[in-house]
Amino acid sequence: MNGQTSQNEIQVESTPKHIAIIMDGNGRWAQQRGLPRLLGHKAGTKNVRKIIAACIERGVRVLTLFAFSTENWMRPFDEVRGLMYLLGEYIDRETPHLHRMGVQIRHLGRKEGLSPGLQRKIRNAVELTKENSAITVCVALNYGGRNEIIHAIRTMVGKGIPLEEINEETFAAHLCTKDIPNPDLVIRTSGETRLSNFLIWETAYSEFWFTPIFWPDFTHKYLDQAIQDYASRQRRFGSVSVANRANGTAA
Ligand code: FPP
Repeated sequence: MNGQTSQNEIQVESTPKHIAIIMDGNGRWAQQRGLPRLLGHKAGTKNVRKIIAACIERGVRVLTLFAFSTENWMRPFDEVRGLMYLLGEYIDRETPHLHRMGVQIRHLGRKEGLSPGLQRKIRNAVELTKENSAITVCVALNYGGRNEIIHAIRTMVGKGIPLEEINEETFAAHLCTKDIPNPDLVIRTSGETRLSNFLIWETAYSEFWFTPIFWPDFTHKYLDQAIQDYASRQRRFGSVSVANRANGTAA
């Protein structure tokens, strides 16, 4: 915030409905402190509830968190095992709190490939919180954008959908994001400036905000910076601005 715009103004005028976050930099956060990478992931998990609460306060309706990609299986076995353990533990410990906060938990990605125990925990958390409406938190876990697109194509072909019925709408209806709005704002922490196979269809017209801050250090202060920056942007979705539409000039 710039000190002149109140929190309330940001909420009313320019809050993104859907924020998606690539929570990057846990490993480097740990390495900088001489700690094992897994402790960086542990610190990262501690940050999640605070950022969910901050999003609720700011009127964000959907928050998507990239927790584990289809490519993350290539990490060393011990790190993958540790991450899976942390995620299971997180669901056990945090679901009751999130439920009380009114969070609806959703899962994006393939459940196949996850352990039966983790699949069960995810299913239970989704079922328990399905009527909640303070915010929808989508956890992308064993998620990859390309994998998601291939899965949608296979489903459509399997259903025998005729060629002439294949369009952007029918295709999007076969993605796991089918009933959630596209992200307005994508945040990536840690200084990397790429999408890494995250929501590649859904982010076609998203705004992007990058910060060098590692995920465990990402606080509501940075969330506000991202939202304020988002509020200053002009989203034209390939069209022209309203002013230019009136005077006939292209933006
Ligand atoms: C990227 O840091 C982070 C991950 C691959 C895992 C993110 C997962 C969590 C924060 C766990 C909690 C999530 C939820 C939703 C409960 P990195 O290991 O790539 O860091 P580096 O680039 O510095 O090595």
